[in-house]
Amino acid sequence: MGCGPHVVLPIGAGSPLASLAVMPLRLAPSQATLADAAPDGVDAVVVVVTTESVGSLPDAASEAFRAAAGFEAKPGQTLVAPDGDGLVIAVGAGGSDDLDLERLRRAVGDGVKAAKAAASVAVQVLDAGPLGADVVAGAAIEAALLSTYSFTARKGSQPDDPTLDSVTVVAPGVDESVAVRARAVAEGAALTRELVNEPGGSLTAPEMADRAEAMAADRGLDCEIWDLERLREERCGGILAVNQGSTYEPRLIKLTWEPEGEATGTVVLVGKGITFDTGGYSLKPPDGMMTMKNDMGGGGAVIGAMSVIPAIAPSVRVVGIVCATDNMVNGHAQRPGDVFTARNGTTVEVLNTDAEGRLVLADGLSLAAEMEPDAIVDLATLTGACLVALGQDIAGLMGNDDELIAKVAAAAEATGEPMWHLPLPDRYREQLDSDTADLKNIGKGRYGGTLTAGLFLREFVGETSWVHLDIAGPVTVDAAKGEHAKGGTGYAVRTLTELIASW
Ligand code: BES
Ligand code: MN
Ligand code: ZN
Repeated sequence: MGCGPHVVLPIGAGSPLASLAVMPLRLAPSQATLADAAPDGVDAVVVVVTTESVGSLPDAASEAFRAAAGFEAKPGQTLVAPDGDGLVIAVGAGGSDDLDLERLRRAVGDGVKAAKAAASVAVQVLDAGPLGADVVAGAAIEAALLSTYSFTARKGSQPDDPTLDSVTVVAPGVDESVAVRARAVAEGAALTRELVNEPGGSLTAPEMADRAEAMAADRGLDCEIWDLERLREERCGGILAVNQGSTYEPRLIKLTWEPEGEATGTVVLVGKGITFDTGGYSLKPPDGMMTMKNDMGGGGAVIGAMSVIPAIAPSVRVVGIVCATDNMVNGHAQRPGDVFTARNGTTVEVLNTDAEGRLVLADGLSLAAEMEPDAIVDLATLTGACLVALGQDIAGLMGNDDELIAKVAAAAEATGEPMWHLPLPDRYREQLDSDTADLKNIGKGRYGGTLTAGLFLREFVGETSWVHLDIAGPVTVDAAKGEHAKGGTGYAVRTLTELIASW
């Protein structure tokens, strides 16, 4: 299907857009491997130590050397010690008792970054605390790969060829399948980062759909794209309402993993894909708008997670839906007070055009519910209020089914992606009552904004088990740290992968 916008704007000569051939990992996934022991003659050995195991570092990082450098194995501490022709790089992981995968990945990422000019690196975890050998090995591969990510697509000059050409994770007895999955997760998270980091003027909805389609072709997923005309036929009033002010057509992206043989169930992932959020006529102030190319991060996580699914080949059917458009202003844009009809027939009075994510999700969730799946999980950079409540690192987790909430929380816990369960209090539901329509799109005032947004979404899933993740905070980081570069994080790709793998 042709995916051109109704007005074609050039995105710049030599653009790598729509091509997944450019992977922004400076270490190719196949170059991160598992081994029983560190290969002889590696340029650097990254040793992850806890405060309890700091005494068993190799001689190069002797007690005197550590004391002089003030190295105590705290998270974020790195010690580079010459060792013969190579380096020993000790990285702190903090206390052993409560070591989790987030801290482990942080340490591995810091260590691989500190290896700078090395061509070959080995990674050794001296003390994994309560963590099992398999998850440690997988997390180390993921972090090693992702720590080499940088967003270079929009740089005028490209970086020199990377010097790093192998990372060997020392993990005796760990099965190769662990590495296969970890590489796929790292690639999936890198794809999500790439989508999040791409500016709103170049990652338009049609462009996002093209990239999803290219990924699907590469991974053998089914892909269906709905353009403007199809969205009209399909009565997707929320996506159309938000898109009214845009130069670019909207897209609904549907990716499907169909297992071999009879599927044991269906899980639908739904992502907010606002490729840029100006707020519409309820315009954002400049500071608030600056980061709004990130507003497709939920959709980006769905595309990244779907790219991993073939590597784990689950027996459950997995459908990923992304509702993509920007939220712009022109003479056609929706006005505060306008009413649209969502796909499920609910009418919505739009009193604030900046509460647009829930409008596109209204259609995406309606569509998901029509499939009568076993579960729906939606992901969205939905509310600034979630940042106020939980800060930048932690996502809000809401839903209508305690069992599914527990499953998602367990997957997040197992993979080290912080999220916190928030309520959907029935007592606030009346805030969404409208004088004119079935619902209005904002609550009363600013208080509890994450919860009223969640309550709004709940109206579109019917009786289906559903979880909503508000990822407004963790979709990006402000500064490079461990496995992260400044910008998109790829948050939720791991949780979704684990959820599906353990379904
Ligand atoms: N995309 C924003 C939410 C957001 C804000 C994400 C800051 C990340 C950082 C969303 O579309 C939005 O504008 N929400 C409004 C809702 C309000 C108008 C009810 C908000 O949070 O202010
Ligand atoms: Mn908004
Ligand atoms: Zn938004």
